[in-house]
Amino acid sequence: MYYSDELIEEIRSRNDIVDVVSSYVRLTKKGSTYFGLCPFHNEKSPSFSVTPSKQMYYCFGCGQGGNAFTFIMKHENMTFTEAVKHLAERAGVNLPEQEYSPEEKRRADIRTQLLEIHKEAALYFHRLLKSEKGTRAYEYLKERGLSDDTIKHFGLGYSSNYGDDLYKYIKSKGYSDEVMKESGLFSYSEKGVYDKFNNRVMFPIMDINNKVIGFGGRVMGDAKPKYLNSPETMLFDKSKNLYGMNIARSSRNGYILICEGYMDVIALHQAGFTNAVASLGTAHTSRQAALIKRYANEVYLTFDSDGAGVMAALRAIPMLKASGLSVKVIDMKPYKDPDEFIKALGAEEYQKRIDNARNSFMYEIDKLKEETDLNDPDLKARFYNNVAKKLLEFSDELERNVYIDAVSEEYMIPKDSLIKTVNRLALTYEPEKNKFQNEYSEQERKQSGAKTPKDDGVRAAQKTLITWLIDEPALYNKIKGIISHKDFIEPPFNMVAQLLFQQFEQGNVNPASIINRFESEEEQSEVASLFNKGLLEGMSLQEKEKALNDTVVMVKKNSIDYRNKTVTDIAELQNIMKEQNELNRIRIVL
Ligand code: GTP
Ligand code: MN
Repeated sequence: MYYSDELIEEIRSRNDIVDVVSSYVRLTKKGSTYFGLCPFHNEKSPSFSVTPSKQMYYCFGCGQGGNAFTFIMKHENMTFTEAVKHLAERAGVNLPEQEYSPEEKRRADIRTQLLEIHKEAALYFHRLLKSEKGTRAYEYLKERGLSDDTIKHFGLGYSSNYGDDLYKYIKSKGYSDEVMKESGLFSYSEKGVYDKFNNRVMFPIMDINNKVIGFGGRVMGDAKPKYLNSPETMLFDKSKNLYGMNIARSSRNGYILICEGYMDVIALHQAGFTNAVASLGTAHTSRQAALIKRYANEVYLTFDSDGAGVMAALRAIPMLKASGLSVKVIDMKPYKDPDEFIKALGAEEYQKRIDNARNSFMYEIDKLKEETDLNDPDLKARFYNNVAKKLLEFSDELERNVYIDAVSEEYMIPKDSLIKTVNRLALTYEPEKNKFQNEYSEQERKQSGAKTPKDDGVRAAQKTLITWLIDEPALYNKIKGIISHKDFIEPPFNMVAQLLFQQFEQGNVNPASIINRFESEEEQSEVASLFNKGLLEGMSLQEKEKALNDTVVMVKKNSIDYRNKTVTDIAELQNIMKEQNELNRIRIVL
């Protein structure tokens, strides 16, 4: 963050959240809170709330929340700094020249320049496509059925075959080789510098904020490689982005179509399915799943109908499900991919395929069955066993029963014996990781810090306690000697607690200012979700008291466990032991 906290806070306090939101969303006042239709997800009845006293908004439907800055960032697709500038202007606050540390300045500089270079390059490729030199490429795209509007909408272009056209052009704009090297758009060798993309149709890849961060380029014939993609750079992280997400994010129909290729995305959008995205020529990652989860709860896989596509689907399903998405699989046979399907049968038929998409669990069983010869009694028995094992993936009994019904009916497996097998296996068998869930995604999940249920409980307790404190500041004095901000171990709660406890001590609680301290949208949303009252509503005093005591003990115990593991000095160890003894005696009376 480049502006001082005080300045940011001043800008925020001069932009009333109700005013800011009202210019985009129609709000109706109910009691002390305003409600409206959430601009970030598709809904029919208002679950989007704006609370003037906290200067925050929060949607109970999709969990998006924040202060005036986050709202502008999301709604206008702006970075934090851009939102600060926007709101400063709105409120007539003069911004000083930015203060950077030298390293920040250097990185921000390079990043900004790389974004400019990519934008210039995209414009250059696009102009070239429309020029005489681009005739063949333009005809190629037309032959593939793309309209002029579509070509423009996706900013498609053409890279010439002269070797260093783009290099010369970017250079003439005054960029240094040091920065251009970082862009991945050129190859530097002893013989000289050349454009990486030659004589290809160019697909600019944008992040969700519509900034060009890389390119894919396709040959117009059968040469290899068919597609060439930008390498990973400071801007371009393939595991984090999805082609088309910048458009799909605002399609608002509650689900996302995932396909394999650039051309599939474009063909689907042109046919009206503006919620289609594709991963960038790599396996789907849990970070992409998390990105999707911000905009939708459901995904439809529309991968190629060949063996590789099936493999990719079986691999993606568990990972997407682990991110909390529900998954369906679209059958495109006899066509290879959505592009070819739409060309052959049109949008209406494709919509039917969406409507008839297969539930991902049933799809997995289908594939299991396809590889089994059910005429062989041994194999048949093994298939039934495998089905029962897979059913154990559902830890929720009701859900499992629904699937037992469906599976036994569709595959004509006697239901009673299926239930018996499932119950028998449940006693001895730990559901194994899906066999298609490779080590890559496993490792990735660890890196992304996926939580075990216990972690979730502890996090939830920290979160609940903070929410209560904001809701009923009087609680602070009750828990004061028992819990300190240091007992909140995990980010972002540790930082929120520290700031909040400080505010309690100073006697001015101002939750919206706390959000300023967090830079990523995810963190801001998570922090914003802390500031939602209502948790305590409808509880009796006794229930409240019990809930509060349980929560405090859980937070404290986690903190003690954590410090116990990391402690090095004796005095601190004695402290911990003392607190451990006191843990059983915690009794907060309301
Ligand atoms: P078209 O032939 O243009 O319709 O492409 P497609 O989308 O049908 O291609 P395909 O199914 O072969 O590939 C799907 C995606 O995988 C592409 O959009 C690329 O992102 C990626 N891909 C395909 N071929 C290559 C390649 O040769 N190299 C790399 N790096 N990626 C490729
Ligand atoms: Mn294709």
